[in-house]
This record gives sequence, structure tokens and C-alpha cells, in this order.
Amino acid sequence: LSIAQALVAPRKAEVFERRRGDYLISTDPGKIDLDVVHGFLSCAYWCQGIPRAVVERAVHNSLCFGVYAEARQVGFARVITDRATYAYLADVFVLESDRDRGLGTWLLKVIMSYPELQRLRRWSLLTRDAHDLYRKVGFKSPAMPERYMEIGDPEIYRRNPASEVPRS
Ligand SMILES: CC(C)(COP(=O)(O)OP(=O)(O)OC[C@H]1O[C@@H](n2cnc3c(N)ncnc32)[C@H](O)[C@@H]1OP(=O)(O)O)[C@@H](O)C(=O)NCCC(=O)NCCS
Repeated sequence: LSIAQALVAPRKAEVFERRRGDYLISTDPGKIDLDVVHGFLSCAYWCQGIPRAVVERAVHNSLCFGVYAEARQVGFARVITDRATYAYLADVFVLESDRDRGLGTWLLKVIMSYPELQRLRRWSLLTRDAHDLYRKVGFKSPAMPERYMEIGDPEIYRRNPASEVPRS
């Protein structure tokens, strides 16, 4: 393949997996249990009420990492990335039944070892209270917060879309 052909060719979905005891972390999209992922996220503080179709689209368009105990999904995280310069880490969770045994930390380490996420210029994420967890894998508070800007819409899933006036 020439570089131009490689750039337009559909991405070959190579599955990346790591095992630890009875647990598996996998990027296989076919393993994701959307009932579990949407079930957790629809109650999470950062996206309460998120519609299932939005989770489905986000999962489809992200690099997702599932944590599994046998066939049961017990954790999840997704990375929004160009696989060259930048990665945004989102929707990290481990189900309560499987917390406090190192899975969250292991999940982050596995994500950050993913081959196409090496030598990025920036990783970022937002968190209300899990700073210590992310510090363990190298995240820090922004050195220059004055450079950071955003358009946030925290109420988006609480409003009725039918009542929205489109932005012009
Ligand atoms: C955060 C979360 C993924 C951690 O998963 P976990 O499998 O329990 O993580 P680990 O067992 O690897 O370790 C958790 C470590 O992070 C620390 N921690 C920091 N903030 C935390 C938080 N808000 N919740 C849980 N643990 C937190 C714990 O004290 C623990 O530290 P230790 O290893 O020094 O004891 C899990 O608690 C979770 O899903 N919470 C709800 C969803 C959430 O808040 N996700 C993060 C959004 S930014």
C-alpha cells in the first residue's frame, strides 16, 4: 500500500488484549455489552440520562477498552483520538462489584500502553474526584489552565431535543 492508499483504506480492526488472572481487557468491539455500558453511564454524574443511541454512536467512533470477567463486562473506558498527537480519555468505570482490586489502575496502564497511543503530544481528561487514580499513571493538573477553553453543555441530556433551537 502507498501512504495515500493506507490513509484511505478502512482501518484493520486489530484486537488488543491483556489478561490478568480471570480478567481480560480487550479492544474487541464485538465484546462490548451496551446494556452494561449504557446502564452505568446513564446514571454516572458526568452524563446522567445519556440516551442509549448516543452511547452507541460514541462507542462506535471511539477506541474502546472493555474489562471482562469471563463473559461479564465489569469495566469500560474509551479514548477519543487521532492516534498520532492527542488522546482524550472518557467514560472510565469499573462496576462496584469489582472495585478496589486494582482493575481501574490496570485498565489505565493497559490503555496507555496501546501501541498507537505512544508519543502523543497530549492526553487529557476531566474528573470530579478520581485525581489520585489518574496521577498514578502520570496525569497532572494543567500547567497552564489559562490556555484551556471549552464549550460545555452539562444539561444537554436533561433537555428535550425537540425543544432545541438549532445553532445558526
Ligand atoms: C474510579 C474507578 C474506575 C476506580 O476503579 P477501581 O477498580 O476501584 O480502581 P483501583 O482498584 O485500581 O484503585 C482505585 C484507587 O484510586 C483511588 N481513587 C481516587 N479517586 C477515586 C474515586 N473517585 N473512586 C474510586 N477510587 C478512587 C482509590 O483510593 C484507590 O487508590 P489505592 O490504589 O491507593 O488504594 C471506580 O471507582 C469507578 O468506576 N468509579 C465510578 C466511576 C468514576 O468515578 N469514574 C471515573 C470518572 S473520571
